[in-house]
Amino acid sequence: MSTTEAHTEVPVFDAAFVQDLHSRYAEIRDATPVQRMATPHGLPVWVITRYEDVRAALTDPRLRKEVTRIQEVIAANLLPDSGGREFEDSLASHMLNMDPPDHTRLRKLVVKAFTSRRVEALRPRVEEITERLLDDMADRSEVDLLDSFAFPLPIQVISELLGVDESRRDAFRAWTNVLLDASDREAAGAAAAEMAQYLAELIEIKRREPGDDLVTALVDATEDQDRLSDKELIAMVFLLLVAGHETTVNLIGNGVLHLLRHPDQWAALRADPELVTGAVEEMLRFDGPVMHGTFRFTAEPMTIGGVEIPAGQIVWVGLAAANRDPEQFPEPDRFDITRDAHGHVAFGHGIHFCLGAQLARLEAHTALRGLIQRFPNLTAAGPLDDVQWRFSTLIHGLRAFPVHPAG
Ligand code: HEM
Repeated sequence: MSTTEAHTEVPVFDAAFVQDLHSRYAEIRDATPVQRMATPHGLPVWVITRYEDVRAALTDPRLRKEVTRIQEVIAANLLPDSGGREFEDSLASHMLNMDPPDHTRLRKLVVKAFTSRRVEALRPRVEEITERLLDDMADRSEVDLLDSFAFPLPIQVISELLGVDESRRDAFRAWTNVLLDASDREAAGAAAAEMAQYLAELIEIKRREPGDDLVTALVDATEDQDRLSDKELIAMVFLLLVAGHETTVNLIGNGVLHLLRHPDQWAALRADPELVTGAVEEMLRFDGPVMHGTFRFTAEPMTIGGVEIPAGQIVWVGLAAANRDPEQFPEPDRFDITRDAHGHVAFGHGIHFCLGAQLARLEAHTALRGLIQRFPNLTAAGPLDDVQWRFSTLIHGLRAFPVHPAG
C-alpha cells in the first residue's frame, strides 16, 4: 500500500473513541492496519493495530521515545499536559521516556534495587492490606469498589515499598490525579512543583536515615562506579509512584467488571480459585488497565505493515488493538479466563517492558482471590452495560464502580 492511501486523517482518541475503545480499534485494524490518523487537536499520528506489527515495533530500534520532543506528544494530546517546563524538565525525564544508551543505564540501576525478591517479600503485607480493606467493606450494603478497595490497595503498597510516609499519601493521590487528568494546566504545574520538591526532600531523608525501602535502595544502587544523580532519582521515584498509583487499580476494576458481566466466569473462579492466574492474564489481554497504546517517533523513514512512514513522525502503537487481533487470539472479543492469553502486550514488550509487572500481578491475584472468597455473591449496584470510562490516553479505567459486596 502507498503512503497516500493510508492518509485518512480520521480523528482518533476523542471522548467517543475512549468510550468505545475496542470496536473503534477493530474498525481501524480491519480497514487499514497501519493508518495515518489525526488526534483531537488535529495533529497527525500513525496508528498500528495488528499484533505482529505491534510486537515488531516495540523491539525496533528505529522507533524511539525522543525525550526532547515530549512537548509534541503532549501537544498531540497523547500524554496529559501536566503543567509545562517544570514537569518536562524534571519529572518527565524518566526512563520510560528515554532511549538507549540512557535508558539502558537507568534501567540497569533500578533493576538492582527493584528486585524480584523485594517484590515477593511484599506478599504477606499485600495480603494483610487486602484483608483489612475487605473487612471495612463487610458491613456496608453498597460501596464504590474503586474507592474502597481497588485504589487504596496499590497506593498503600507502593507507598510502603518506596518509603513515603503516611501523612503524605493523600497529597500524592491528589497530585497524581491533577497531573494525569491535566484539565487545569495551572493546577498541574503547581502539583508538579510540589511533588518534585517533596521527592527531593524524601531522597535527602533516605540519604541521611537509610531504611529498608526502595528509595534507599535506589539512592545506594551502583553499577560500575555509576549511580543515579539527584535529578534522575526524582524522575525515577516519580515514575514508580505514578505507575504504582494508577495501574493495578484499573486492572482490578476492569477485571471485576468483566467477571460480573460474565457470571459463568465468576462462578468458575469461585469454584476454583487456582484459575486466578489465568484470569488476570485474560483481564490484561481483554481490557488492559493502562496505556491502550504507547507512542514512538520514527528515527528514519521506514515501512511498517507495508506502509511507508517518513522520518520524525509520531507512531501510536495500539496495545489494546493488538490484544484483540483475531490472527493472534481466536475469538478475541470473547472473555474467557481459561484461554491461553500468553503473549499479550498489556505490559508492553522489549526494552520498556513494564518494570512493575510482577508487583501488579501479585496485587491483582491477591485482591481477586480475597474478593471472591469474602464476597462470593458480589453484584453491581448499577447497570453493567452502560459504564462510563475515564477520558485519557494513559488510563483505561472506570469513573466509578458501585457494588453490593454481599449481593
Ligand atoms: C512500563 C503497563 C503496573 C512501572 C510499562 C509499559 C506498559 C506498562 C505497557 C511500557 C510502555 C511503553 O513501552 O511505552 C502496566 C500495566 C500495569 C502496570 C498494565 C498494571 C496492571 C506497573 C506498576 C509499576 C510499573 C505497579 C511500578 C511499581 C513501570 C515502569 C515502566 C513501565 C517503571 C518503564 C519501564 C522502562 O521504560 O524500561 N508499564 N504497568 N508498572 N511500568 Fe508498568
